[in-house]
Amino acid sequence: MPINEWIRTQLFDQVPLNITVIDRSFHIVEANQAFENEYGEWRGRRCYEMYKGRTERCTHCAARETFRDGQIRVCEEPGVVREGTQTYYVVHMVPMKEPGGQVPFIIEMSTDITSVKVLEQEKLQAERLAAVGQTVAGLAHGIKNVLMGLDGGMYIARTGIERGDVERLLEGWQMLEDNVARISSFTREFLEFARGRTPTVTLVDPVAITRKVIELFRDKAELVGIRLDSATEDVPLAPLDESGIHTCLTNLVSNALDACESSDGPAPQVLVRTYEREGTLVFEVADNGAGMDYDVKKRVFTNFFSTKGTGKGTGLGLLTTRKIVQEHGGRVWFESVEGSGSTFRLEFPRERLPTPDPTVG
Ligand SMILES: Nc1ncnc2c1ncn2[C@@H]1O[C@H](COP(=O)(O)OP(=O)(O)OP(=O)(O)O)[C@@H](O)[C@H]1O
Ligand SMILES: [Mg+2]
Repeated sequence: MPINEWIRTQLFDQVPLNITVIDRSFHIVEANQAFENEYGEWRGRRCYEMYKGRTERCTHCAARETFRDGQIRVCEEPGVVREGTQTYYVVHMVPMKEPGGQVPFIIEMSTDITSVKVLEQEKLQAERLAAVGQTVAGLAHGIKNVLMGLDGGMYIARTGIERGDVERLLEGWQMLEDNVARISSFTREFLEFARGRTPTVTLVDPVAITRKVIELFRDKAELVGIRLDSATEDVPLAPLDESGIHTCLTNLVSNALDACESSDGPAPQVLVRTYEREGTLVFEVADNGAGMDYDVKKRVFTNFFSTKGTGKGTGLGLLTTRKIVQEHGGRVWFESVEGSGSTFRLEFPRERLPTPDPTVG
């Protein structure tokens, strides 16, 4: 059979794609064999009945848009529920234009991507589990440090007793007291961290959260002579756990201010930016403070790691931040140059954000 004839008579039915042609009333007027095999009898039925098992038109309908503007569209759609699980497909909508520009028909070409979606969800789950593993490793590390302190205190106290050296005994005793205090505050904070709060996801204005955090630190920054600025663009509302994101930004800004304080560079400044690029919502905190060397950069997330000394930092700030960000399907990115400053960025791809909690107004 000549290739042209084969394309005309066979290709439509033999491509591994579900193809339908719909008219302006969303009725399917033509479909290929692959579609019929997958979805069954289609004659006289509408696209939303077949693809989605619906009785009415979809609220967001890409086909309607294509009928209106004649543009080609590609979108990902949840399909019907089959054997108890949700299916997903990706669909190309191509308008069939008449010479006058009218669009009487659209061709919809779709592929089932349910298995890819399942893998994506499994990957997200695995990332969450990996974060838990790192947290547990960090906890063990933190406890080991305190145990070393306790061991040292016991040794000094014991040798103080053996030698009848009261001063040495008191020195050892002080070490014991310090380390017991450390482990109890450590345990309390860790429990708070692990228990967390149940995130409440609502549609919120990301810029408003940034403003609140800036307000919180304005006086403190001014007092120590650090310029705290924000640069925000209008971004659409996003489904976020407002208080969780507030915590993240508080941690980042407080770290940035600490970094500026511990550096003696001129014109210390912290800049908080909120913006959106290619479907990803971004919060960014940049400082021109002390920056981090290679060793510190490697360890910021992995351990209960702090360079701020006993009583000041517990090293839970960034860990908590990462946990909250990952719960939103996002990631934490940073770059830092020793002596010149650091930038931390929280990135939230819109399509991975959680769905808002319907019970909260
Ligand atoms: N903006 C920054 N500039 C320089 N170093 C930073 C910055 N942010 C974090 N760090 C380094 O990372 C370490 C860990 O930060 P993290 O916020 O987790 O803990 P912390 O600030 O020390 O204590 P906590 O936040 O629990 O009070 C800090 O001790 C510091 O060494
Ligand atoms: Mg911190």
